[in-house]
Amino acid sequence: NGKGKDRTGLLGYTPVPLAFGDQVVVPAGYKATPFLPWGTPLLGSYPAFRPGQNTAAEQEQQVGMHHDGMHFFPDHGSSTRGTLVVNHEYTDEQLLQVGSKATPRPGKDVITADQVRKSQAAHGVSVARIERGRDGAWALVRSAQNRRITANTPMAMSGPAAGHRLVRTPADPDGRRPVGTLNNCSNGATPWGTYLTCEENFNGYFAVEGTLDPEAEALKARYGIGGDNYYWAARDARFRLSAGNSNEVNRFGWVVEIDPADPRSTPVKRTALGRIKHEGAFVHTTKGQRVVVYMGDDQVNEYAYKFVSSGNWKSLRARGKSPLDEGTLYVGKFGEDGRGTWLPLVHGTPGLTAAEGFADQGDVLVKARLAATSVGATPMHRPEWTSVDQNTGAVYLTLSNDGGSASAVKNAANPRVPNKWGSVIRWYEDGDDHAATSFTWDLLLLAGPGRDAVGVAPDGSTVLAEDAFGSPDGLWVDRDSRVWVQTDGTQPLGANDQMLAVNPFVTDADGRPEIKRFLTGVRGCEVSGVIDTPDQRTMFVNLQHPGDGVPEATWPGLDGVTVPRSATVVITKDDGGVIGS
Ligand code: FEO
Ligand code: CA
Ligand code: CA
Ligand code: CA
Repeated sequence: NGKGKDRTGLLGYTPVPLAFGDQVVVPAGYKATPFLPWGTPLLGSYPAFRPGQNTAAEQEQQVGMHHDGMHFFPDHGSSTRGTLVVNHEYTDEQLLQVGSKATPRPGKDVITADQVRKSQAAHGVSVARIERGRDGAWALVRSAQNRRITANTPMAMSGPAAGHRLVRTPADPDGRRPVGTLNNCSNGATPWGTYLTCEENFNGYFAVEGTLDPEAEALKARYGIGGDNYYWAARDARFRLSAGNSNEVNRFGWVVEIDPADPRSTPVKRTALGRIKHEGAFVHTTKGQRVVVYMGDDQVNEYAYKFVSSGNWKSLRARGKSPLDEGTLYVGKFGEDGRGTWLPLVHGTPGLTAAEGFADQGDVLVKARLAATSVGATPMHRPEWTSVDQNTGAVYLTLSNDGGSASAVKNAANPRVPNKWGSVIRWYEDGDDHAATSFTWDLLLLAGPGRDAVGVAPDGSTVLAEDAFGSPDGLWVDRDSRVWVQTDGTQPLGANDQMLAVNPFVTDADGRPEIKRFLTGVRGCEVSGVIDTPDQRTMFVNLQHPGDGVPEATWPGLDGVTVPRSATVVITKDDGGVIGS
C-alpha cells in the first residue's frame, strides 16, 4: 500500500477564512461556478424554470431541489464528458410552491394534488449528461439518457426483505413493487457503474392515523414515524398510515441502486443493506474483489454499519446475482481500548432469534435498528458519511454532533458530552482486509472553535482556531488521500457552512492533523456532496438550501432568477491543476 509515500505537501493552497456572506469563496487561484440549480430544464420538453409557477409535470422534467450526495460517472475515463447523478434530499415548500419568501406555503387544508405531486417530483435523483467545452465551462447535454427519479418512480425490491410481510401493502400485496424514493441524502457508487442513493429521514413524510398494527407501533417509536412534514398525506393516501395499512413506511429507509446508463432501468431497493436513516453507502472493493459498503445511520445514539458481499462481485454478477443482495450486514462495536468488532446481523444468532422478536432475516433487516441494539452495537453521535482512503485502507466516518440530546451516550468513540461540534473517527480493518470482522480505531479530530495555543480547547475540540468548524457531515477521500470534510449545521462564531481538507499524514506535536479550509458557502446553506473527474481537475460540490432563513438571499442568481436555489458548484484551478494541490 501507499503508507510509505511522502504526502506532506498534499494541501498546496492558502486557506480561506470563516465566512458570513452570500458568495461562495474558494482559495486564490481557484474558480467556483454554479451549475445545474434546482429547476434547470433537464429532459422531455425542457420546460423553463418559473419559480413557484411550474407544474408537477414540469418539475418532473427539471432538476430537483436541495442537492445533496452525488457522483460523476465518466465516459470511459473521460474528464470532460460523463454523467452527473445528484440526490435531492427534500424541499423548501415555500420556495417550491410559492416561489418567494414573502408568502407562506400552502397549508394542509388547501394544498392541491398537483402541488403534492410537484413536491414529490422535486425529491429524488437527477441523472444529467454533462460535458466540458473548449472554453473550459461545463454544460448540460440534452440527451435521452437524462432522467428524473422521484417519489413516484416505479421501483423493485430485492434481498431478504423483498416480499416480506412487513413490506406488503394493499396496493402491492407481493411486497416487491415499491414506488418512489425520498429524502435522498448521501450516496455511493459501485464498481459495476451503478449509483446508490440513500433514504435518510423517510420517517417525516407520513401521517399516522390512530393506532398502527402492534409491530408498526414498536417501529414507529424507534424510527420516529410521523410528522407529515410535506403535507403529502392530504392528497396521497399512500402516505397515510393506519391499522391494517401500516407497511408503506417500511418500504422506505433503504439504499436504492440506480443504473444511470439506462434511463429505462428500474431502480432497486437493496434490502440486504438494512433499513435505517441511511447516510452514505461508500463502496470499497477488497483485494479478493468482494464489495464492502460502509454506512451511517444519522441520528444520535444510532450506529455505523457495513455490508460485505458473500463473494467476488464479478463472479456473483456473472451468475446473475447482485453483490448487494448476497452477503452479510454488520454493525459496529467500538471498544474502549481502541479495538472494534463488526457484529453480524444474521437471523438466528444470539439476540436475533424468533423469541427475541425476529422471525426471519427480513425481520432483522426491516427492524435493523432494533437488531443492532439487540446484538450490542456502540451508539454514536449521528454517524454520517464514510469514505475509504484507497492508498492506506483507512476508513473515515463523520459524527455530526449529539443533536443537543440530553440522552446522548458517552463512550470512548464519542467522548464528548455535550457534543455540539462533532468529530471524525477513523479505523483500520485487521489485516488491511475490509471484509474483516475486527479493526483498530482512533479519533482523527474533535471539531469546534479550537484554540491557538497548543493543547486541547476548553470545549474539547482538538483543532486550531484558524481551522474552526462544526457539524461535519459530507466526507470523501480523494485519490491522493486528501480527506475532504463538509459541514451541515452550527459553525463556530455563527459562520457559514464550509468545506475543509485534512491531511492526516502531517500532524503537529499534539497529534493534530493539518487542516485547511477550502470553501465557504453562503448564508443559510449546507455544503454536501463532493466528487471529482478522473484527472482531479474538476471538482463538483453541492450547496443545499442556500439562503435558508435569509429573506434577502438570491444565490446563485443565474439568468436573472433571484430566488435562492440549491445548486452544484463546479470548482476548477486557474492553472489547470489538481484540486487541492
Ligand atoms: Fe441529510 Fe444526515 O444529513
Ligand atoms: Ca440537508
Ligand atoms: Ca448529510
Ligand atoms: Ca445533514
